[in-house]
Amino acid sequence: MANPSSDQIVIVLDFGSQYSQLIARRIRENKVYCEILPYNTSAEKLVSISPKAIFLSGGPASVYVADAPVCDPDIFHSGIPIMGICYGMQLMARALGGEVKPSPAREYGLARLFFDASEELLDVESAEEHEGPAKTIPVWMSHGDSVSEVPSGFRVIARTDSLPIAVMADKKRKLYGFQFHPEVVHTPAGKDIIANFLFRICDCQPTWNMKSFIETSTAQIRETVGDSGVLCAVSGGVDSSVLAALINRAIGSQLKCIFVDNGVLRKDEAKEVIKTFKDDLRIDLHFVDAGVRFLRHLAGVVDPEQKRKIIGNEFIHIFQEEAEKFGQVKFLAQGTLYPDVIESGGISHGPAATIKSHHNVGGLPENMNLDLIEPFRELFKDEVRQLARELQLPDKVINRHPFPGPGLAVRILGDITNERLEILREADAIFIEELRKADWYDKTWQSFAVLLPVRSVGVMGDERTYDQVIALRAVTGEDAMTADWAHLPYDLLGKMSNRIINEVRGVNRVVYDISSKPPSTIEWE
Ligand code: XMP
Repeated sequence: MANPSSDQIVIVLDFGSQYSQLIARRIRENKVYCEILPYNTSAEKLVSISPKAIFLSGGPASVYVADAPVCDPDIFHSGIPIMGICYGMQLMARALGGEVKPSPAREYGLARLFFDASEELLDVESAEEHEGPAKTIPVWMSHGDSVSEVPSGFRVIARTDSLPIAVMADKKRKLYGFQFHPEVVHTPAGKDIIANFLFRICDCQPTWNMKSFIETSTAQIRETVGDSGVLCAVSGGVDSSVLAALINRAIGSQLKCIFVDNGVLRKDEAKEVIKTFKDDLRIDLHFVDAGVRFLRHLAGVVDPEQKRKIIGNEFIHIFQEEAEKFGQVKFLAQGTLYPDVIESGGISHGPAATIKSHHNVGGLPENMNLDLIEPFRELFKDEVRQLARELQLPDKVINRHPFPGPGLAVRILGDITNERLEILREADAIFIEELRKADWYDKTWQSFAVLLPVRSVGVMGDERTYDQVIALRAVTGEDAMTADWAHLPYDLLGKMSNRIINEVRGVNRVVYDISSKPPSTIEWE
């Protein structure tokens, strides 16, 4: 991430919450630049950064356990305004002489917050009248412990029915503690509360936007790279295309873009990507046809994690080989996004469960001798799309559905063979063609076909068939963290199924996936 002007930075200290990134996102939505740092960043370092505010995230621990993560207590005396959220509030209370206790009942979900109408921090349009001068808003709680006694200098400024201390404030020192989570969408007024904190209490200016992100990240890339070359692995998707455009803007011919055909691409994909780079982006693209090599390594492999690791490793070997050919290349640029990072086991400062090893995160070999440049590591997909618009990339790139690095390998369940690849490619192409014709492509976040590892009995003409099954998957959503299955019209689904069964040899059944994420994931592997 790139900081446009050092006097307008906000820091989030991460104590391992699933929501730390959401705090950062809400701050950025308010057009204020923000960075996430590990919880144990020293007060000295924080003071040297001179942030306008510090947010302490929530976290899974209790402040009482022996190895509970704690921040440097000196930050509370630094004069920097601080908002502690959930665990962050409890930590603040404890560090300043207050008391934290396990709540009588653990509290998860919606609660009603009550506060005085005069509270500047909680002055939000959506607040409803309560009794007398009081107002109320719905907020989202998720905690076991809570503050039972505020430290000296603090006042309680909001409560819920079950929680007498829901928000505490020391207005003189500008220290605030929230037991609820203003960063989640289930607290509808949360963004406004964060805005009040930033603009009314911390004197932030709403100056950060994608334009300033471009300016400052290009400057950072130039500084990091110096005279060296950067290899950018392009997939044709929006992330790597925007990455190439951004780095091209920063360092021009020092950038070498390569596009690897890993044998598990979709129908005509290689041709289309090469054309887009040449005609629309006007960036040189070096094509590496490595299909045979990848498929050899994947032969007989059915375990999804193993497929991902194999593809990740093979990509890196190819990048290294190509880097050596180019000479002077010291860096590998990747369009890694935050959801990739968090699902692969979290960023450096917070624990999170591994759900899938995303090929561009978990599959990196330890002896890789290229340094990584990942300017989007803290961005969500929709933010990258905003960036693409700012860089004036063509709509077909901006609106292209995401396609995973391990490609069709994770959409062919079971064995990957040329024959099965061909079947999936044809079925997928029909699905997408019909989706586009019906104007549904842009309404779905991601859509694709999956080849299942089962055969089923059918009848074609008077013949019995025993053929493959295709599953269609289309989801809606804002980012890859959550998704709902797309409610495609029955007629459209019927047409798709009909065409696939009639036109793709070897398929006699089509099913539609009606699972949301969570508990399912978007991809099947
Ligand atoms: P899941 O299946 O985890 O996918 O719900 C979330 C989003 O990430 C994409 N995806 C990947 N992208 N490398 C990538 O670049 C990967 O290894 C990978 N695995 C999943 C997936 O297509 C969806 O958009």
